[in-house]
Amino acid sequence: MMKKDLPQPLFIAHRGLSARYPENTLAAFKGAIDAGAHMIELDVCLSKDRQLVVIHDETVDRTTDGTGAVKALSLDQLSRLDAGSWFDPRFKTERLPTLAQVLDAVKGRLMVNIEIKPEAFEADGPADAVERQVLDLVREKNMLDEVLVSSFEWLMLENLRKLDPGIALGLLSDVAADESLRHWYRRIKGFSWHPDFRVLTQQQVDSLHDLGARVFPYAVDGKIDTRGMLAMGVDGLIVDDPRQMTARQP
Ligand code: G3P
Ligand code: MG
Repeated sequence: MMKKDLPQPLFIAHRGLSARYPENTLAAFKGAIDAGAHMIELDVCLSKDRQLVVIHDETVDRTTDGTGAVKALSLDQLSRLDAGSWFDPRFKTERLPTLAQVLDAVKGRLMVNIEIKPEAFEADGPADAVERQVLDLVREKNMLDEVLVSSFEWLMLENLRKLDPGIALGLLSDVAADESLRHWYRRIKGFSWHPDFRVLTQQQVDSLHDLGARVFPYAVDGKIDTRGMLAMGVDGLIVDDPRQMTARQP
């Protein structure tokens, strides 16, 4: 279980230090460690052969030199792609990491927010469903106290709560926290709420704090001014650029 007294505000490096490194690569995660992040955020999908791969988009087109849907490519095919040159040629040796590789690289150095992409959800709940694989891997790495799992697909979070009483779970939403969201927060015994910064209000922050939730808005463009969010008393920020963590903004 993740400890409750976290640094305030928590610096959560979105897709790693994505303002300075190609997103969701080991370089970006190591860059986040060097920049003093408390936690990294990353995105997990399933490959064709049902392996946990760290990539944001449903296709490899934008962030690699390949083309096609992630779920139509095997891990072997995915791991051959150049995942760095699109950002800067000096990162041409970067590859799409597996979740296991990332956990090995950061264990004991910072915490990990694993965002499971909703497209990977399978309603029939197979034994190797993405959320089950994530839990199995986190347990195998003995990292339950260093990991926070979030998703826009709250059914996956509910499944995780049924499987593990202690794993920290975060509700992702791009809509305001209404009664339904508060119900889900209680239902999954949540740890945190991760709203799009555009829906954040003081009332929302206060009402989630009343439930005991930590509020970690995502503001995923390094140019977004986060001073208003910090003034509302949010508990952390999911951001691309370390400068967004301070009162002096980029
Ligand atoms: O986890 C917060 C944030 O990453 C959600 O949006 O599209 O960047 O995964 P996205
Ligand atoms: Mg994400």
